[in-house]
Amino acid sequence: MLLSIIFTSFIGLSCAHLNSKNEANPKNGVLSERQASYPANTIEMPIDHFPHKDQYKPHVTGTFKQRYFFDSTYYKPGGPVYLYISGETAGTNRFSNLKTGIIQILMKETNGLGVIIEDRYYGQSYPFSNSSTDNLRYLTTEQTIADNAYFAQHAIFPGVLGNLTAPGTPWILYGGSLAGAETAYSVKTYGDILYGGIASSAPIKVVLPYPEWYAPIQRYGPQDCIASINNIVAKIDSLTDARNAKAIQELKEIFGLGKLKDIRDFAMTIAFPIGGPMNYPTNTWQELNWYPDYNSPDFFEFCNNVTNIDAPANITAIDHVLAKYTHGQPWTNLGNYATYFKKNFLPLCPSGDYDSTSCFGTQNATYWEDSSNGAGRSYLWSTCTELGAYQVAPAKGPALIMKVLQVDYTQQWCNWAFPKGKYVEIPKTPNLLAFNDYGGFNLQADRLAFIDGSIDPWLDLCYHSTEAPLRTSSDNNPEYLITGAGHHWDSYGILDIDAEPMFIQQAHRWEIKTVKKWLRAFKDWKPCHTNITVTG
Ligand SMILES: *[C@@H]1O[C@H](CO)[C@@H](O)[C@H](O)[C@H]1NC(C)=O
Ligand SMILES: *[C@@H]1O[C@H](CO)[C@@H](O)[C@H](O)[C@H]1NC(C)=O
Ligand SMILES: *[C@@H]1O[C@H](CO)[C@@H](O)[C@H](O)[C@H]1NC(C)=O
Ligand SMILES: *[C@@H]1O[C@H](CO)[C@@H](O)[C@H](O)[C@H]1NC(C)=O
Ligand SMILES: *[C@@H]1O[C@H](CO)[C@@H](O)[C@H](O)[C@H]1NC(C)=O
Ligand SMILES: *[C@@H]1O[C@H](CO)[C@@H](O)[C@H](O)[C@H]1NC(C)=O
Repeated sequence: MLLSIIFTSFIGLSCAHLNSKNEANPKNGVLSERQASYPANTIEMPIDHFPHKDQYKPHVTGTFKQRYFFDSTYYKPGGPVYLYISGETAGTNRFSNLKTGIIQILMKETNGLGVIIEDRYYGQSYPFSNSSTDNLRYLTTEQTIADNAYFAQHAIFPGVLGNLTAPGTPWILYGGSLAGAETAYSVKTYGDILYGGIASSAPIKVVLPYPEWYAPIQRYGPQDCIASINNIVAKIDSLTDARNAKAIQELKEIFGLGKLKDIRDFAMTIAFPIGGPMNYPTNTWQELNWYPDYNSPDFFEFCNNVTNIDAPANITAIDHVLAKYTHGQPWTNLGNYATYFKKNFLPLCPSGDYDSTSCFGTQNATYWEDSSNGAGRSYLWSTCTELGAYQVAPAKGPALIMKVLQVDYTQQWCNWAFPKGKYVEIPKTPNLLAFNDYGGFNLQADRLAFIDGSIDPWLDLCYHSTEAPLRTSSDNNPEYLITGAGHHWDSYGILDIDAEPMFIQQAHRWEIKTVKKWLRAFKDWKPCHTNITVTG
């Protein structure tokens, strides 16, 4: 299956590609100044920080090599350490944050040192040689955030003079998306070690079905396109409600997907241009970006195709093919939708074997059981055990995806991927308390900032969710909702704050001021000793 990880936008994942594009373009010369790669360092990290918790039995006493990458270009003795939490991807995919992004911005302003820590079970930081259910038992939020605290207490930066460990040096964390939640939980739990943090687009109040992922697209997408998709999806739902197998087969064939057996696989596949549950092969709403070179216009191109008023007659004719099933009502823009889909997505499956797991099929237990180490598998584990937020169709109102897409579809993948091990088994549905017990929308900690984007698909799990109460910002509990911004848009920079769009520029200035205020107060900080110690 064309699996991708949807919490991390593709922009982050493809930064190497972006960098080479920048180099070729003199207009972006400023961005290619600092293209150097960072060497990997490793720390011996205890696999099990909780030797007394039954959940981790049988306990192991060993360590694994956890990678980190640092930039000391701006560092001057006495400066802070910025710890960028890499989250659900390899640390090497996060270099842009040190070179041009938020960490570069903060390092430059405060003579800081920036370091990326690769999350356990990602990149090359695996404790075990395979990710069987049993071996994955140490991939939990509490173990992951304990790594961050342990790292801050033990980190060594070759070539940098002095002892920069916490709490003697102010350590300020930054994470976007899943790593944002990990940042918030780290600062909350280890406030006696970690001085502060900025959690960007952090899912801190998770739920099982998450139809709201589509809400900003529904609300802010080009409305002629959105309404067309809504109307087409409503008509498709009427066919599946009526269990009209003949009509559904005709529909599948219009999209060139006659061979795709499971109706939910079909539903996910035609939703690719918008974003399917857990995965989609191209860019969509989540991958929009404020900076043209980081941006991906796929979503808007899709919409412009769907609403093309100059489509040739043989394409608009397709709008009438299924009218016989809808009281003569045409399926306006179905021809445009299907034609765009066939042109852009069918070629991703050159074999034409659309139902196979190398293409668009997902109903294959053997495929999911493969326990090789990999980011997709680790992220699925976290989704299935703690995070949830399965993307589903809304219970009522206009929909961008077919209503056959419900919790059971994603849960089935979990059950196939992680069969009962000798020691552990996954819960029937994710244990959301592993996240929500930190406080949900009321999560607070000293010097913990929350920053979100108003058009982010993940917004409703974040501090500024439309479900969350209104709160006021303070220096100790700062918060900022960037109007018109998407998924952790503040993490991107262009080495020139003055040239940024106004709302991003203001967010960056706010982050700089916030951190500077914290740093000025560092000399008076008396870490309160909680009972939590990081074992190792
Ligand atoms: C996975 O690794 C464990 C040791 O950690 C080993 O016992 C098991 O056979 C491996 N499983 C597979 C499928 O390779
Ligand atoms: C750094 O300082 C801490 C706290 O004083 C100490 O425990 C640690 O051993 C020191 N690390 C090094 C590498 O000197
Ligand atoms: C349709 O999408 C393609 C990219 O797949 C784009 O080049 C083209 O301009 C779009 N057509 C319209 C009418 O917007
Ligand atoms: C419509 O007609 C054009 C020109 O004859 C042809 O290239 C294209 O494949 C046709 N499209 C469909 C969807 O039938
Ligand atoms: C099912 O998955 C296995 C393992 O990836 C693969 O070898 C096989 O071809 C798949 N079968 C289908 C029908 O996709
Ligand atoms: C923390 O430790 C103190 C002293 O050992 C003890 O009285 C208190 O109950 C502990 N608090 C928690 C939350 O475990």
